[in-house]
Amino acid sequence: MTVLFADLTGSTALGGRLDPEDVRALQGELFEFLNAEVERHGGMTEKFVGDAVVAVFGVPQAHEDDPERAVLAAIGLRDAFPEFAAKVQSRHAEDVALRIGVNTGEVVAGREAAARGELVVSGDPVNVAARLQQGAVAGQILVGTRTRLATERAVAFDGPLQIDAKGKNDPVEAWVALELLTRPARRGVGGLSAPLVGRDAEIGVLMALAQRVERERAPQLVTLFGQAGVGKSRLLAELVDRLGPDARLLKGRCLPYGDGITYWPLAEAAKSHAGVLETDTAEVAVEKLRGAIAETVPPEHRAAVLDATTWTIGLSLPGSKPIGFGSADVRGRLYDAWTRYIGGLGREQLTVLAIEDIHWGSEPLLDLLEHVAATLESSAVLIVCPARPELLDIRPAWGAGTPNATAFTLQPLGQQDARRLVDELLHVDEVGEDARSRILERAEGNPFFVEEILRMLIDQGALQRQNGGWVASSDIADIPLPDSVHGVIAARIDLLDAASREALRHCAVMGRVFWPAAVGVDEQIIGALSRRGPVSEQASSVFAVLRAFRL
Ligand SMILES: Nc1ncnc2c1ncn2[C@@H]1O[C@H](COP(=O)(O)OP(=O)(O)OP(=O)(O)O)[C@@H](O)[C@H]1O
Ligand SMILES: [Mg+2]
Repeated sequence: MTVLFADLTGSTALGGRLDPEDVRALQGELFEFLNAEVERHGGMTEKFVGDAVVAVFGVPQAHEDDPERAVLAAIGLRDAFPEFAAKVQSRHAEDVALRIGVNTGEVVAGREAAARGELVVSGDPVNVAARLQQGAVAGQILVGTRTRLATERAVAFDGPLQIDAKGKNDPVEAWVALELLTRPARRGVGGLSAPLVGRDAEIGVLMALAQRVERERAPQLVTLFGQAGVGKSRLLAELVDRLGPDARLLKGRCLPYGDGITYWPLAEAAKSHAGVLETDTAEVAVEKLRGAIAETVPPEHRAAVLDATTWTIGLSLPGSKPIGFGSADVRGRLYDAWTRYIGGLGREQLTVLAIEDIHWGSEPLLDLLEHVAATLESSAVLIVCPARPELLDIRPAWGAGTPNATAFTLQPLGQQDARRLVDELLHVDEVGEDARSRILERAEGNPFFVEEILRMLIDQGALQRQNGGWVASSDIADIPLPDSVHGVIAARIDLLDAASREALRHCAVMGRVFWPAAVGVDEQIIGALSRRGPVSEQASSVFAVLRAFRL
């Protein structure tokens, strides 16, 4: 869980000068200002603690990227603050500034209380967040080390600074959050890389499908299911790589939160195809789209396709009647236009339309994708959609009405492949067998977990470079789960309904391998979760009559 403290400097002085009523009004406005940004990122704002406002990310619902949400909210607040300050200045002739502290850690939170909208968090990380906020200068965001580690791919930091903290013997390490990176770093361990490990069968299936699509001009919709971090995006990247320059790639991704536009991923895909840049003016963007569409769409349909694609991107064509939203007619026009657009591309050359993370996709987007897949004709279009298993919770019949839909699930890497991944990342063999086994045990065949555990160990100095190799320090015996991995697992569990969560909590007291019946939990409930949820059934149980599961 990640905690954010924000306070208004100058507010104590203000409190001395202003009417209590004005102070209350000002606090109310501050709260609203902060709360809007926090909620936009899926966090929850607590009331005032002293002069500071406290927000938490990860309660009542954990997300795998809670630290990132918190830091993005902090940056949003910092950047929007001048307007707020100007208001205070004009009303009270007083300069105010914002100081923010963000920290990640295990926090005690009352989930039930949180569900009622009351927040009860406590614990050391909360105190540290408060100290960070107090240690920040006006306008500064200070974050703790764990928050930095979890967000450094998306955010630029300066530091570390040492903040002397009251009541703590050691100073607290703090990092100054600067800004969002325009190009978030790729996943992986800085400076380490591994070729694709395993997945021969999967890449073989995808290549065969792509070749058939190209040869027979028979469109296909492929859904790649798999848990977070198992390697869906990597497999897709590998496929595109192997297809080489003969295939055209249009790529978009669904976003987990924010004010996403309904058809955002298609907008991204069209923009990348037309070469539209973020910095382009609306006119330039429309011209680029017009050019791109003219290349592949027959003249009689160009106007309609351009109209619909510009609308998808959130632009409107000068002189054209804006497309309304929600009516059947709009849907028809959009479906038609997108089918023609994508179809035109596929008639020219093999076209891969990759829509990432469709478990976050909007209902209308999923409808549209299915429609396009089902109606395309004689066009070499391969639609590839990586998705986490929860897609089937919101869309149980995904792809079902589409004759040319395929789906398969990426399982975690097997023991040997996981071991090879560690070797490939570290290159050399000097990490002892013991440390290696522990890493593998923690990572459970999930490549993202492997990478994150290594990244954490390197960051902590437990793995160190020596003479071009890596050596493990002796205290590698106990590997904690990195926050990023913990976040993924917590988010998986939080997707469950209350009864399943409760059942799982009962079981979890036995450890990660457990026998539901042994603690009086219905095996059926846990069995149902193992179909696509956070637990898996163990093939053999040491107790012949009890089913065993693993969290
Ligand atoms: N077979 C593999 N060989 C080597 N590295 C891999 C392999 N599979 C995945 N990785 C690496 O593991 C990390 C996680 O993989 P990836 O991002 O593809 O997961 P994902 O399934 O798309 O997860 P998410 O659901 O969160 O998007 C990436 O850095 C990726 O490069
Ligand atoms: Mg992915």
